[in-house]
Amino acid sequence: MSNRQSTALVIDCRQVTRTYSEGPETLTIFSDISLEVSAGETVAIVGSSGAGKTTLLNLLGGLDRPSSGHISICGQDIHKLSEAGRARFRNQHLGFVYQFHHLLPEFTALENVMLPCVLGGMRPGQARPKAEALLTRVGLGERLRHKPGELSGGERQRVAIARALVNNPECVLMDEPTGNLDEQTGEGIRALISELRDTSGTAFIMVTHDMSMARSLGRVLRLEQGRLVQEA
Ligand SMILES: Nc1ncnc2c1ncn2[C@@H]1O[C@H](COP(=O)(O)OP(=O)(O)OP(=O)(O)O)[C@@H](O)[C@H]1O
Ligand SMILES: [Mg+2]
Repeated sequence: MSNRQSTALVIDCRQVTRTYSEGPETLTIFSDISLEVSAGETVAIVGSSGAGKTTLLNLLGGLDRPSSGHISICGQDIHKLSEAGRARFRNQHLGFVYQFHHLLPEFTALENVMLPCVLGGMRPGQARPKAEALLTRVGLGERLRHKPGELSGGERQRVAIARALVNNPECVLMDEPTGNLDEQTGEGIRALISELRDTSGTAFIMVTHDMSMARSLGRVLRLEQGRLVQEA
């Protein structure tokens, strides 16, 4: 893993608005949100339930399209790509930890973590040791062959974290990744994030309800009444 340029913008989000049409009504979740995240930066997004945190993260990760505004990821306007191109781009540049982990139930923990590498064209023989090392790092070295249904909620979340990191992405977007974890395990994840930030220049954007986790990441942004404001 090489050090990335610390000045490069991994996320450039400009005046983004997301609305939903509900029959004749238009529901505005947030409007004119701008956010810049550089390589090696860790950012927390906090806010009450329903404030729009998952909606924003999905936009920043190219999973959803803004109603207006522009989002560039690692210099690329992701919506200028075809659907296949966008999937490839996300696989190469981004890691995503969903609020509800989205692991593949038929596959073991190890296979779930290997998958982004294999989809990116890596041979399984190369992907396996990387996946094993990350699963060991998140405390699941003894659970490699368990399927998601045979893991606890917090263990599944840790598999999802390992899967998000396995391709050494420039930016990792995490939606409540430590919600089901005890303090010590959560602290292990926080240490892993700091290490990857410092050694590889990986940027992290984490949605969390845990204020001590949020503060430990440094920059804390609150989504409130459709606006994103910096916490004092
Ligand atoms: N597909 C949709 N159609 C209409 N409204 C939606 C849709 N998806 C989300 N919303 C609304 O957008 C708002 C924000 O939802 P979102 O999931 O982003 O909240 P959140 O901040 O992540 O909340 P939580 O902390 O509970 O996960 C909610 O009020 C929700 O009802
Ligand atoms: Mg959410």
